[in-house]
Amino acid sequence: MVVGVLGAGTMGAGIAQVAAQNGSEVVLVDLNKEMLTKAETNLDKVLARLVEKDSISEDEKINIQGRITYSTDIHDFKACKIVIEAIVEKLEVKHSVFANLEAIVSQDCILASNTSSLSIASIGSVLKNPTRVIGIHFFNPAPLMPLVEVIPAVQTSDATLNFSKELISNWKKVGVICKDTPGFIVNRVARPFYGEALRIYEEGIADFETIDWAMTSIGGFKMGPFTLMDYIGNDINYAVTESVFEAFYYDPRFKPSFTQKRHKEAGFYGRKSGRGYYNYAEGAEIIAPNQDSNLGYSIFERILVMLINEAIDAVFMNVASIEDIDLAMTKGVNYPKGLLKWADEIGLDMVLSKLEVLFTEYGEDRYRPNPLLRRMVKEGKSFF
Ligand code: NAI
Repeated sequence: MVVGVLGAGTMGAGIAQVAAQNGSEVVLVDLNKEMLTKAETNLDKVLARLVEKDSISEDEKINIQGRITYSTDIHDFKACKIVIEAIVEKLEVKHSVFANLEAIVSQDCILASNTSSLSIASIGSVLKNPTRVIGIHFFNPAPLMPLVEVIPAVQTSDATLNFSKELISNWKKVGVICKDTPGFIVNRVARPFYGEALRIYEEGIADFETIDWAMTSIGGFKMGPFTLMDYIGNDINYAVTESVFEAFYYDPRFKPSFTQKRHKEAGFYGRKSGRGYYNYAEGAEIIAPNQDSNLGYSIFERILVMLINEAIDAVFMNVASIEDIDLAMTKGVNYPKGLLKWADEIGLDMVLSKLEVLFTEYGEDRYRPNPLLRRMVKEGKSFF
């Protein structure tokens, strides 16, 4: 089977590698020849490292490389069974590209988008046969991150969905199905990890170092929120927050933060610019966190209950199943536990009472406990 990948940037190159490593023939197309050359050279390096580590043989390396055809011409997608688009995140561009693609590919070719934030229904609206559109959202770096969100739009046929689910599982990825809603699962449920951490900082409760320490040492997260935002880039992370906020009709739960906006405006993007919340210059001063355990616990619990409330909202609004929401957060962003399982462990009544304390103190909608949480506590239920 031939798989088309459009866009040979960070994501497209990674998706092409996943496909080829799992036996699919790949046509990788980019308008920019340099990006194709870069993708080919990078893949050679990555595979050479895998050979060194004995993860694959030299023959396998050659076979994987032989399965990818690099091209600047989308007409080379003619024989594809599916094309996954991973080009710039601009709706107008995706619209024109999808209309062009449909004129080239076969009647039953599936047209998928790797978009992080755009509506799949809107992308599919330009197609004569919109039942073939679907979202297939990989995480960066695609060859390493196990999670893939599969997003059927209102127009998507069962055949398109079933084919996509099977493909993802053949590529040995963990597929979760989610509704075509802003941020899908991960980028919606994870918002408080950043937003509440920023809020705690803005209120002067603790500095970046202390909040990061609380979330890693007490919470067991691999990275603290500020280290992670610096890693993702404050420009990118702020843009996602703003787009989710707008897409949810300005729901105060998703309100972006001035602190992050100012960091972005100042060019303090994080690791890639040498400075973010932290200074990455050689010899820069390292500030020790305040390791007061009461403070640490209160920071961790506040962020955790906000995350749980968001995960519960995703269940409440039927964005995905309980199992898939927990899988998404553990396999897509490496959370130490699924948030709903975590909620069961703490006790839903405890989660509710902590949220109620915040809601009463602040009087802000941001802290309103989800109706499903209230209902489950009243009925003495748990998620698992
Ligand atoms: P990128 O900027 O690294 O790569 C985009 C590539 O598309 C470039 O090589 C560019 O030359 C090419 N391109 C642009 N317009 C084109 C066209 N009309 N025809 C053919 N090629 C074209 O972008 P990146 O980061 O790989 O993102 C791609 C998509 O994946 C976006 O929709 C983004 O939202 C999504 N995404 C990005 C993630 C990330 O962490 N970078 C994670 C998951 C999804």
